[in-house]
Amino acid sequence: MDILVVGGGGREHALIMKLSESPRVDKLYCTPGNGGIAQYAECFDISATDIDGVLALAKRIKPDMVAVAPDDPLVMGMVDVLRENGFKTFGPTAKAAIIEGSKVFSKELMEKYGIPTAKCRVFTDSSEAIAYLKEQNSYPAVIKADGLALGKGVIIAQSEEEAAEAVKAMIDGGKFGKSGSRVVIEEFLTGPEVSVLSFTDGKTIVPMLSSMDHKRALDGDKGLNTGGMGTVAPNPYYTAAVEKECMEKIFLPTINAMNAEGRTFEGCLYFGLMLTPNGPKVIEYNCRFGDPETQVVLPMLETDLCEIFEAIYEHRLSDIKIKWKSGSCACVVMASGGYPESYPKGLEISGLDERGQIDGAFVYHAGTKVKDGKFLTNGGRVLGVVSSALTLEEALKRSYAAVSRIDWENVHYRKDIGKRALEAYTDPLNLEYKDDMEDYIEENGVYLRQ
Ligand code: AMP
Ligand code: GLY
Repeated sequence: MDILVVGGGGREHALIMKLSESPRVDKLYCTPGNGGIAQYAECFDISATDIDGVLALAKRIKPDMVAVAPDDPLVMGMVDVLRENGFKTFGPTAKAAIIEGSKVFSKELMEKYGIPTAKCRVFTDSSEAIAYLKEQNSYPAVIKADGLALGKGVIIAQSEEEAAEAVKAMIDGGKFGKSGSRVVIEEFLTGPEVSVLSFTDGKTIVPMLSSMDHKRALDGDKGLNTGGMGTVAPNPYYTAAVEKECMEKIFLPTINAMNAEGRTFEGCLYFGLMLTPNGPKVIEYNCRFGDPETQVVLPMLETDLCEIFEAIYEHRLSDIKIKWKSGSCACVVMASGGYPESYPKGLEISGLDERGQIDGAFVYHAGTKVKDGKFLTNGGRVLGVVSSALTLEEALKRSYAAVSRIDWENVHYRKDIGKRALEAYTDPLNLEYKDDMEDYIEENGVYLRQ
């Protein structure tokens, strides 16, 4: 099969690498791709949000399948257009992608179907929102833009002033454009966060290996929210018991709810969960593979990804067994100094070698381009340096060793990726995890990664 992947970040690099392992895959295409992807797939200069451009490209290169990876084209209906034109396409239609495209939609869905999440109220008028904040008088307060905002539309306000400022900036000030004209104010939840990506064809849902993102820009979970500064998989807080509870109370009810609403979800559904003292709750849904979760989850996938995509498209996901490698995987994101705010582009990257010059490491490109044979920075998140090993400790050691060999002016990365997860492994409350993991490995017949 020839496959076209739409997108151009670290997530798409990980998708391309996994697909390239498949004996079923012949040629890989990616648009727009990036400097790293270009070594494995033919890339095109068509933006991931250019629906007409991508359709014209598909008509020209005639791929056997298209996988649409980023949120915006999914929410805008790229899958619908490609399918209407006869292309076998992986990803949800616009009607289903709204689960990420509108927080108001997802909150109403969870309320209607009794899926556990933070309590919330929706506002389109800033003075009503501020009056509500005053009445609640409970901080931190969580304020979210309704629509897509590059992972930056959530403000955790520590005071009334900060909360009021966020509400005014979104509703009256046009911050995030139309995405911020409606806001959700929700209860502040506490507990470890877990990302669970899942494969679903609308009938069956298969959760992937769990992971933990590190969303804040700075060490110790300080600084601004970003798209994600690093990930580890599996997430030690996500025990077999938690997975069972999530399956019963969140995963299956969500799939059923979407079916009941006439919005069957097909593709990768991402559950952003918080394990609160009152059980797991949904923080957010994403209608796609997470970034940088994909960079630690897909390397652990044993089963042929192309086979899974085909099974989903043909609604026979229940027929295949999806297997995972044992051990752990860690990704450290190397970003441009200044990210997530402003940062320069075009800086030369030194020491870059796709294997990170370390045994077992691999460098996924997120924002790079090649010019005159040199790799240059071309985005906020530039590289995701990934390693897998039998233990998380070893995986982190390898990733950081590889990171230390790569450099550019004012490079920024977190030094504490995986720290919380490592602590969780030795937390006495969490020791049962080890046994669960061993049972899981046995039941699922996974074997050790080479
Ligand atoms: P989101 O973009 O919805 O995933 O939110 C970004 C981050 O904000 C999450 O990963 C959480 O760390 C935090 N967050 C979102 N909603 C809440 C909440 N209700 N309570 C506490 N933290 C939250
Ligand atoms: N890493 C979080 C996301 O992909 O939205």
